[in-house]
This record gives sequence, structure tokens and C-alpha cells, in this order.
Amino acid sequence: MLVSYPWNQAEMDAIPNQSLRGFEIIWFAKWQLEQVCQGIVSCADIIAFAARDSVSLTGGITYDVPSGRRDGTISRASEALANLPPPFADVNTLTQMFANKGLSQDDMVTLSGAHTIGQSHCSSFSSRLNNFSPNSSIDPTLDSTLASELTQQCPQHNTDPKTVVPMDPVTPNTFDVNYYKNILANKGLFTSDQTLMSINATSALVTKYAQDSATFMSNFAAAMVKMGNIDVLTGTNGEIRTWCHVTN
Ligand code: HEM
Repeated sequence: MLVSYPWNQAEMDAIPNQSLRGFEIIWFAKWQLEQVCQGIVSCADIIAFAARDSVSLTGGITYDVPSGRRDGTISRASEALANLPPPFADVNTLTQMFANKGLSQDDMVTLSGAHTIGQSHCSSFSSRLNNFSPNSSIDPTLDSTLASELTQQCPQHNTDPKTVVPMDPVTPNTFDVNYYKNILANKGLFTSDQTLMSINATSALVTKYAQDSATFMSNFAAAMVKMGNIDVLTGTNGEIRTWCHVTN
């Protein structure tokens, strides 16, 4: 980990953030911007633009992202722990944690669709397999074929940070509605994915999105803009960081 601000307790150091990758892309974009317009574009805006570009470049929707965010001057690991839902969360916990941020249950189902791309470490779903502790058994809501594949990919007690599995093994690098199709087939990777089938309100939307890509894409874009407006710093609040990994 390159970052240690302050005393290894910055947001990036929090346990749920230790698996994050790709910071060099953000730093490179920031470096290029600083060459042409120094101190103007925040790291917060660059991250929002990078998320938009990731969706677009992997075949999803292209959408406009409002800009003008400023960067925080405080970074606390404890805030990440308190605010990020864990992969073992059930639908009620997820709904509550999103509501705490002003996001609806539909927004939660919609934004979870981002798990159609990207990769996960074994530790995020190993509690659903049966090879990690003597008395554990396979989560009954996990497809048995996928469970055996995951058990092979994640041998017992594997904590190797280099071992990752695709979250959507069917089309891992394409932003599509396969995430929802997987869930309908009991192939959601995390408890927090498969739990969307546990109540009617969320399972109905999973079923709709699996069949209606256009509705998913436009709802996803709107939900991303909504999420990107949460607790934004503007005006004289915060700062424009010179380097994204530390405050000025
Ligand atoms: C619903 C609550 C959510 C939970 C519990 C959750 C949990 C997780 C976990 C555990 C991982 C894997 C981390 C690892 O082991 O490396 C992950 C990866 C990922 N999540 Fe989520 N997530 C949630 C919502 C979201 C949202 C709202 C988005 C974006 C709109 C998102 C986008 C991603 C992406 C793109 C990855 C892949 C990262 C990579 O390839 O390195 N997730 N998520």
C-alpha cells in the first residue's frame, strides 16, 4: 500500500478498501490535468469521470457527470468501515445502508448491477463455500456447480491477494445485464447479490432488468449521478488536491 495518511488510518487503508485497484489510472489522469490546468480539477471529479468511462468503455451507457466537486481535507478509515455495506449483508441491511445515504431500494438494486464487471478476492465470498471451516456448508442459495468451481479457484484458507475471480464469469469485461441473469440462476457471487432474490420488491426489479437492458442502463446512469451527488464539497469547502493520495 503506497498510502499512509495519517498513521495508516486513511480511507484507503480501511479493510474494505484494501482490495481496491487502479489508483495509478487516477493519479496519471490527475498528473496530465495538472500540466494543462493546475489546481482546477479535483480528484473526486476524476474518480466520477473514471467510473463513467469504465461503464462506457465496457459497452454500457454513456452518461453526463456533473463536475465541480472538491476534495476532502480529512480521510478516515473508520468512515469507510461504517458506511460501506459488507458482502455478507442481507437485503434489509443493504436497504438501510443505502437509505442512510438518501438512496432508494431501487437505486440499491440498480447500482448493484455494477457487479457485472470486475473481480473479487476469495475472502469476499468464502463464507458461502464449505472448505473454509470444518463445520461450514455450501450456502443453499448458491448454485452447486458454481460453488464447486469457486471452491477450486479458492483453495482452503487462500488469502493470496493475487487470487481473484470474475464477479460475472459469463461476460466478465462487458457492462451488460448478465449480473441479473446470474442472480436469477442462483449465481450471484456475494450474499449481498443473491439476497436481492429474497423479497418480492427487489426480486421483481432483478427479473425486469434481466430482460430489459435499456431500462437498466438509463436507471443505472441516473443512479450513478444521484450517488455522485452525495455529500459533495463545493465552494470554499475542501480543496483541490495536488496529489490525489494526500491532502495538500
Ligand atoms: C450493494 C452493496 C455492495 C457490496 C456489499 C459490494 C461489495 C463488493 C465486494 C466485496 C467486492 C470485491 C472486493 C474484492 O474482494 O476485491 C466488490 C467489487 C466491486 N464492486 Fe461492489 N459492492 C456493492 C455495491 C457496489 C456499487 C454501488 C458499485 C458501483 C456502482 C460497485 C462496484 C464494484 C466493482 C466495479 C467491483 C470490482 C472491483 C475490481 O475489479 O477490483 N459495488 N464489491
